[in-house]
Order: sequence, then structure tokens, then C-alpha cells
Amino acid sequence: MNIYPVDSLILAPLSGYTDLPYRRIARAYGCRYAFTEMIDISSLAYAHERSFRMQERGEDETFLGIQLVGSDPEHLRRALEVVNRCRFDVVDFNLGCPVAKVARKCAGAALGRQVDRALALFQLLVKESVHPVTAKIRILDERDPRETLRLALGLEAAGARALTVHGRVMKMFYSGPVYAEIIAAVRESLAIQVVANGGVMGWQSYGQLRRDSGCRAVMLARGAMGNPWLFRELSDPQGYLPPTPEEVIGTMRSHVLAMIDYYGEAAAMRMARKIMIDYLRGRGFLGTARAAVSKLETRDELLQFCERAVHEHSAGYWQWLESSPTAERRLRKGSF
Ligand SMILES: Cc1cc2nc3c(=O)[nH]c(=O)nc-3n(C[C@H](O)[C@H](O)[C@H](O)COP(=O)(O)O)c2cc1C
Repeated sequence: MNIYPVDSLILAPLSGYTDLPYRRIARAYGCRYAFTEMIDISSLAYAHERSFRMQERGEDETFLGIQLVGSDPEHLRRALEVVNRCRFDVVDFNLGCPVAKVARKCAGAALGRQVDRALALFQLLVKESVHPVTAKIRILDERDPRETLRLALGLEAAGARALTVHGRVMKMFYSGPVYAEIIAAVRESLAIQVVANGGVMGWQSYGQLRRDSGCRAVMLARGAMGNPWLFRELSDPQGYLPPTPEEVIGTMRSHVLAMIDYYGEAAAMRMARKIMIDYLRGRGFLGTARAAVSKLETRDELLQFCERAVHEHSAGYWQWLESSPTAERRLRKGSF
């Protein structure tokens, strides 16, 4: 049986982002399927406090998957002793992360490229996990599907219950075209559910990825950063109205206040800067807002900033909306 119903929208695991406050905001706008950030099996195995926070599930959360990353079989075994005691809907294995500190340990995308080693570890994960197991991979070659298929078919044979495929190769990180035809080749070859991922920023790119990959379930990542409204836009495109500036700032404020409750004021304000910039980016807010955000240190300063921002930046926001009513949000660095 499929893990996700037809046409599901799934919030991707996003390191440094998809904590409990982040997921609660996304869920308020219609997100049902979500993941923790990737959690290093070594830190779980050795009970690092931060990893416990990362795997915390809210009482109110419906579907939640935990994502694990790593390459050491003994650490995986020990990590699963912890994970098996918790309530998750799936355990996902990361075979797609390209960042250096993960690649150095031969984990993530680097492990995905060593197909036999990746499959051996995945078999162990399936054997030891009490939860259903899935995997998230990148395509291995943008011109030829064969190597990606070898990995995908191997994961299916090892017991994967679903597979998410990010249609970019490791060296592309997160930018450039998404090779949906390789995702389509995987979908056509596997019996289990295949989830397409890559480049969905709005209705147009969502339609294109679904058409080109043939996948009905789609995973949202950067398009949902600072834009929980994406879940609404994609599930009800006819009825969708973009948020007003008051809603953007109001949701951003609720998000950061939830982080303050969760992490405490000082830590939350440090972590929240990038989150606030995501809300403001690509929406016509003035560049001065970005400078102001990077100086906020306390809850009171946050509240004052939000109060002022609605007055000072609404005009720019409306101008941006009017000048590009159908444009997808631009998420390039520094684009607001
Ligand atoms: C800041 C950031 C953090 C990410 N963290 C993770 C992660 O923890 N696990 C994972 O599998 N992918 C992670 N990804 C990759 C995304 O889940 C997704 O595969 C990728 O961004 C492509 O989708 P997009 O083009 O829609 O953004 C991360 C991406 C970004 C930008």
C-alpha cells in the first residue's frame, strides 16, 4: 500500500529548518506530511542532546517521518535502538545530501554514489527498524538513467516502502534544471511509490514537475521556505489568494515567537534570522528590512520590527504583486 495518498504534498527534510515550530507553521497552511531535519546517526548513537530535540514530535502532529544520515553500520544499529522507541510514521534514509561535512563521512549523496555500500546499509536499516523505511536519493547521472535505476531498484528490493527522487546530480547542489525524465524512468521501473522533488516554487513549476515525471506525490523544499502558503496555493490554485503584507509579517512573527518558546530567546533570535529573511525575500520588501532583521536580538525588538515593517514595507509588497501577478516567488539570495 502507498505511504502517501494520491496528490500528496510533502514537506522535505530541511537541515536547520524543519524543527517543530517550522512544521507547525507549515501545517497551519495545509501541510500534512512532514519530516524532521536529517539527523546524524552518530549523534543519535551517542545521545547528543541536540539530536533529541531534533527528533521531538508534537502531540498535534499527524504524519511525521524522521530522516537519518550516516554511513557507519554500528552507529546505525545504535541509533535505531533510540528511533525504535519513538513514534514515527516512517524512517527515511538520506542518500542525497551533497554538503561537504556529510560527504566527508561518505554519507548522503556520496554514499548514494557507492551503490553497493548504500544498499548494504539500507538492508541493515530495514532489518533493524520497527518503522516502515523509505529513502531519498538524487539522480546519479543526468543523461543516462541506468545508474540511478540500479540504486532505486536495489532500494526497492531491500524493502523501501517509497522513494523520493531529487532530479539533480550531486555537483548541482540545489540549483539548475531538474531532470524530470530520469525521475520518470525511476517511476516507470518501480512498483513502490515514487515522490518527485526539485524546483517547485509555485503552481507552474509544480504542474511541470508532475507532468514531466508522471509522479502524483511531490516533495516541497526551498519553495516552502518562508512560504507556507505554497501548500494552499498548490492544493487550491483557483481559490488561492497570495497573503497580504500583514499576513506575511504576522505569520513570520508567530513563527519566531514559537521558536522563542521552544529554544529560549537568545538562541531562537540567532536561529530565526535566516527564517525571517526567507519570509521577506522575493516579495518586494525593501533591502533595509534585511539589515534590520540581522540586528534583532530580543523578543521586544522583534515585535517592534514587525509593527514597523507592515507600515514601511507594504507599498513595496503590493507593487511587487501587481507587477508580477503570475510570477513564481524568486528565492535567489539577495533578491529582495
Ligand atoms: C537549507 C537546506 C537544507 C536541506 N536539508 C536537507 C535534509 O536535511 N535532508 C534532505 O534529504 N534534503 C535536504 N535538503 C534538500 C531538499 O530536501 C531538497 O531535496 C532540495 O532542496 C531540492 O528541492 P527544491 O529544488 O524544491 O528546493 C536541504 C535543502 C536546503 C536548501
